[in-house]
Amino acid sequence: MEKLNIYGDMRINKKGRFGCDISSQRLDDLDKKAIRHILSQRKHLSCIDLGCGEGKVGIIMSMIGANVVLIDKVNIAERIEPIASNFKLNLKFVNKDARELQKKDLPLPLDICYSQRFIHYLRFSEAEKLIDALSKNMTEGSMLFISASGLNSELGEAYPDKNKPVAKRFAFLNKKLSEKHNIVEPVCLYTEKDLENLITRFGFKVKSLKSSDFGNVKGIFEKI
Ligand SMILES: C[S@@+](CC[C@H](N)C(=O)[O-])C[C@H]1O[C@@H](n2cnc3c(N)ncnc32)[C@H](O)[C@@H]1O
Repeated sequence: MEKLNIYGDMRINKKGRFGCDISSQRLDDLDKKAIRHILSQRKHLSCIDLGCGEGKVGIIMSMIGANVVLIDKVNIAERIEPIASNFKLNLKFVNKDARELQKKDLPLPLDICYSQRFIHYLRFSEAEKLIDALSKNMTEGSMLFISASGLNSELGEAYPDKNKPVAKRFAFLNKKLSEKHNIVEPVCLYTEKDLENLITRFGFKVKSLKSSDFGNVKGIFEKI
């Protein structure tokens, strides 16, 4: 099977049209920092894993004591329910489009919002609405661990909206890249500055912001 990237991830089969599940293959730096943050606390935190895919990181978070809500529009309820009941975890799956999330779907307070490789599947204006809604459930010191596909990654090569401002960027990848990465839906690719602008206007400060070697944008933000 062809390797997808420099990390050796594979184009594993999945039900959706939204890329490959990477977190089920490997924990990256952002995953480890989110997990470390949970382990460093002296209380049970409430977390969401938004655009969770197979939900591996959310499952790990619940196994180390967090109350976790996994959210994805692809339904993985059948896989999650036995894990939650067999291990007696505070782990719930919400099968919803993130654009239709309601306050009652989210923990209150929401201590950690963790979302890897998902936000670029929304238009920038939709992402703004979502971050605004999440921020309303978060209090001072709550953390957001988030990544987006990068405009400066290989996905940005021949990307039709490369020269548009982020608010107008939402386009299909070319055929070769779309097939390689199983990204069949339009995407809004991000620079570091775009992600910072998306998040900080809703009352967060940057704790860390960088691009991975592949070129995806990874940020840690704290609610102020
Ligand atoms: C590339 S996968 C990432 C999965 C996992 N977070 C990881 O890092 O491996 C993107 C996920 O976002 C989900 N997704 C895409 N658009 C969505 C939407 N509007 N609402 C909820 N989930 C969505 C897809 O179903 C898919 O599971």
